[in-house]
Amino acid sequence: MSEKIVCPQCKSAFDRSDPVTWRCSRCGFSVPLLEGKPVFTNFPNDLNPSEKIERNAEQGTLWRQYNWKFIERISNTLPGQVDVLDVGAGRGDFKTLFTRHAYLGLDIYPYPELDLSVDLIEMCPFNDNSFDLVVLANVIEHVYEYRKLVSRCARLLKPGGRVLITVPFLLKLHQEPVDFHRYTRYTLATLAEENQLEVETLDAYTNPLALLDEGIGDTWQYLVKKQTGMRGFTGKARVAVIQRLCNGMKKSFGNGKVKTASTDDDPYVLGYLCEFRKPSPEGRA
Ligand SMILES: C[S@@+](CC[C@H](N)C(=O)[O-])C[C@H]1O[C@@H](n2cnc3c(N)ncnc32)[C@H](O)[C@@H]1O
Ligand SMILES: [Zn+2]
Repeated sequence: MSEKIVCPQCKSAFDRSDPVTWRCSRCGFSVPLLEGKPVFTNFPNDLNPSEKIERNAEQGTLWRQYNWKFIERISNTLPGQVDVLDVGAGRGDFKTLFTRHAYLGLDIYPYPELDLSVDLIEMCPFNDNSFDLVVLANVIEHVYEYRKLVSRCARLLKPGGRVLITVPFLLKLHQEPVDFHRYTRYTLATLAEENQLEVETLDAYTNPLALLDEGIGDTWQYLVKKQTGMRGFTGKARVAVIQRLCNGMKKSFGNGKVKTASTDDDPYVLGYLCEFRKPSPEGRA
């Protein structure tokens, strides 16, 4: 699968005979290897690499669990062995959903779980029309030039291929200072349109209890950070009681709702789940 990685300058194949560097056989561009994987970017010094956290359909925040279910559902619709690119893949949480497929994971940071490290805003070591599925899970809020990133991903799709975008809306600042945007469904629909992609899914995930839970979690962090002694203890105890109540309510009220663009009237959206397709003259893959 790593043969999909080509010289970002001239799109020629790399000479891979050297164990520490790949060199472009045409223009001489070279890229160093870290544990055998190409690192096209300098390590950003304003980024906090994420810890590996176990996530799946039942673990993690409700938003993350729903992300998992959405991506899993789409992965189950893929025929045979297709080419998948996970952009901003972090610790490669979704890799296990694509074991039947030719999966490549990339991130700015050279996480050991991934296949290459590159800032796709700076350069693109792939040919256009190379992938059946491009995944952007919780990435575009961290990219200042998000329109450039989505346009690049759209070009990487084969005709008939799909890009999946999951993006939080009502969520605290995270991975600071690399947290630049929140998007409405209108921005997301415009992103599809300006890249000539067809909207197959543009769903909103809403769950008032998860919102409450997020808010309470933040209060907890705030109290722990800012208060000491008895006042802090009392505050923490109060938050713990409310958190328990929320957890109890979550159990009885289920796991939130997903609303399609046309039926959504709830403005308290935790995040959006998008599936955009590149049109193909032959129809759908
Ligand atoms: C919130 S994490 C999401 C990780 C993973 N997709 C997930 O859902 O678990 C966002 C990731 O995007 C990466 N990222 C940000 N800008 C990028 C860029 N221009 N090119 C590639 N990756 C980028 C960050 O390093 C970070 O790992
Ligand atoms: Zn080259």
